[in-house]
Amino acid sequence: MEAAIDNFPPHVSRLNPLAPGVAMDPFPIYKELRESGPVVWLESLGVWGVFRDAMVRQLANDLELFTAEGGTGLQNYFREKPWREPSPILEVDPPVHTRRRSILTRILSPGALNKLKSQFSASAESIVGRIVERGTFDGIADYAKAFPMQVFLDAVGVPDGERENVLLYNDLVRKSRTVKLSDWDSTDRDAAEAMAKWIDKFCSRKSVAEGSFGAYLYAAVDNGELDEHEADVLLRSFVSAGTETTIAAIGNTLYCLASHPDQWAIVKADPTKARAAFEESLRFDPPAQFLGRCARKEFVWEGVRIGQHDKILGFISAANRDPDRWSDPDKYLIDRNTVGHLGLGTGIHGCVGQMLARLEGEILLKALIERVNAIEVVGEPVRNQSGFRGFKSLPMRVQVQS
Ligand code: HEM
Repeated sequence: MEAAIDNFPPHVSRLNPLAPGVAMDPFPIYKELRESGPVVWLESLGVWGVFRDAMVRQLANDLELFTAEGGTGLQNYFREKPWREPSPILEVDPPVHTRRRSILTRILSPGALNKLKSQFSASAESIVGRIVERGTFDGIADYAKAFPMQVFLDAVGVPDGERENVLLYNDLVRKSRTVKLSDWDSTDRDAAEAMAKWIDKFCSRKSVAEGSFGAYLYAAVDNGELDEHEADVLLRSFVSAGTETTIAAIGNTLYCLASHPDQWAIVKADPTKARAAFEESLRFDPPAQFLGRCARKEFVWEGVRIGQHDKILGFISAANRDPDRWSDPDKYLIDRNTVGHLGLGTGIHGCVGQMLARLEGEILLKALIERVNAIEVVGEPVRNQSGFRGFKSLPMRVQVQS
């Protein structure tokens, strides 16, 4: 790679921040890479990496230099065939992006979210009720996953019978973000083929419930704002962007609170701080570890020559702990001012579902905090090995107030 050789040695690293082995604690590696230079060639991945707050922010916001159209994960669509039809919202630039985004923003308006609150609260109460009855539970299967799989997929309009497929499909979405297609084994490839068929069949106006976010997409077709295929793939975006991310964020917050008793004491004293606890976990340990973009043209960035269409990963998780931006960055402190963290992205592609995700996190966490005295981790937590940073399982116990 000419671009890498030009800059050798200061900006080349053999460290792989996405290696499965670093999933349990990637932060020392992020620190080393953040300190090693503003733009680092990640030899093991064949991409550039930026790890500082200002650099990740520029990567997401400078639309003259960077495009999302080469894919926002590890794969580079300018150089390899995309594993699926690219995201119709995240992996397109303006003006197409602007038009589609305005429709999603309208569907996810504060008014629409307000209508979901009572349903969300009822579901949270019943999940927490079951946990309290049992005492021990899995923080992911019984809590973090149970909630979005119910309330979010109800809101999108996904029928109950299809929800297991949503999880299977999302396993592949996760994998595709961090594992090169060339490293997928035959089981992954077969699964990808089967799930591609499922999602194509599922994503249609016939599948979605009346009055749901999905149905509003097809209403936009009827208004002439979208074509039918755009609505189908935007429905896919709802299904794939809103479940795994939220499950991971809720699980990460639960783990943060269980492993920081001083912070648990703060929310226990004032359960309205559940939202702040969720927000700080999006800074401290965000599910989307990075956002990917490609260079539109060859240019020099902070003294480093970037080639046209080179892939650059902006590590959100590293930027969110940049000491030039945050004081005590490695501490989970729910009373801090978290405004400006990158856990939900930034700029035109900043998470369109963020208010919904916050609502889910707040309602579910508050229901637990109000009902129980203490939470503790009682077994070995198992991390996801690819895709979004979160847990596969989190064995926990609650102590209930007498
Ligand atoms: C806590 C949970 C969530 C996290 C951590 C999260 C994270 C993110 C991040 C980091 C981005 C920007 C990606 C980039 O710039 O490359 C993003 C974009 C996006 N998110 Fe979320 N998200 C969450 C929940 C949701 C939900 C619930 C939905 C659906 C309602 C959703 C739908 C989307 C969509 C459609 C985009 C692309 C927006 C665009 O390109 O304009 N997300 N999300």
